[in-house]
Amino acid sequence: MKIVVIQGPNLNMLGHREKNIYGPMKLEEIHAQMKHFAEQNKLEIEFFQSNLEGEIVDRIQECLGDANGIIINPAAYTHTSIAIRDAIAAVQIPTLEVHLSNIHQREEFRHTSLTAPVCAGQIVGMGAFGYHLAMVGMTQIFSEISAMKQAQAQQSVQAQA
Ligand code: DQA
Repeated sequence: MKIVVIQGPNLNMLGHREKNIYGPMKLEEIHAQMKHFAEQNKLEIEFFQSNLEGEIVDRIQECLGDANGIIINPAAYTHTSIAIRDAIAAVQIPTLEVHLSNIHQREEFRHTSLTAPVCAGQIVGMGAFGYHLAMVGMTQIFSEISAMKQAQAQQSVQAQA
């Protein structure tokens, strides 16, 4: 099973940008922890960061037929990008949205997420640990999907008998 992690604009500045809001960890450090979790759980993982909306849309589209799950922090595009929302909806791959900060507690323009309604879930306000929670959440989603597929296969065998 493969997870693609997509990071939006300015997240390459983590460890330097507004540490009081986003914490001290660099993006590479967060990714190293996620990679460790993936290895322990026999999951494939790939990371992608871009400051450009179209590149993020392209990366989501590339997940089609390739990834089983997406973990995305669309950063500022969360609040503005219909294009990213539509890409997530189009690929129909279980997607978890992560925000380091609690966007609901901050400026009003951050309260709305255009992307969350097409995601399986949203994790906010847990800092870098939110990415770990997303990895755990994704493994849960994977086991639920596989249990569902097994039950469906069994039902079709019974229907044919
Ligand atoms: C963020 C929250 C967004 O509002 C902001 O634009 C970001 C980071 C977060 O992780 O808390 O760049 O997505």
